[in-house]
Amino acid sequence: MAIRNIREEGDELLRKISRPVTEMTERIDTLIDDMLDTMYEAEGVGLAAPQVGILRRIFVVDIGEGPIVMINPEIIETSGEQEGPEGCLSVPGFQGTVIRPNYVKMKGLNRKMKPFTIEAEEFLARALCHEFDHLNGILYIDKVEGEVYRVSEADEEDYEEFTEE
Ligand code: NI
Repeated sequence: MAIRNIREEGDELLRKISRPVTEMTERIDTLIDDMLDTMYEAEGVGLAAPQVGILRRIFVVDIGEGPIVMINPEIIETSGEQEGPEGCLSVPGFQGTVIRPNYVKMKGLNRKMKPFTIEAEEFLARALCHEFDHLNGILYIDKVEGEVYRVSEADEEDYEEFTEE
């Protein structure tokens, strides 16, 4: 288990298409452990393998209901629409409004390479779609409605600068 470096926007690797996982190896198993550690350490709700520099179709999500590991995910169905704020560990300190499906059904493989499907609504659906996009080199900032804006972390820095003066 280890914390891995999170690649940030501007890194070309984030724009590449990830390759499917064909078999579970010790290396991939360790990668998944590290992705979970890295996500929790960064206080994110999701992380995709390309964000830690590995172009494999794997992501992890935890919106506070326990970890979900998705390997080779496919979107089977979507419906509805939701509009809401979104951020990304690869675009730290920013958020933007993104329209996503309100419902998504995905299939993929679990850590034992066994197929499963997941149905999700609202915030979990948003998180799954966001992470899925990473595997195709897409960042939420590509889909944002209006401006990408600074959020609290950056505001705190501004505040510190202000108080030092
Ligand atoms: Ni992201």
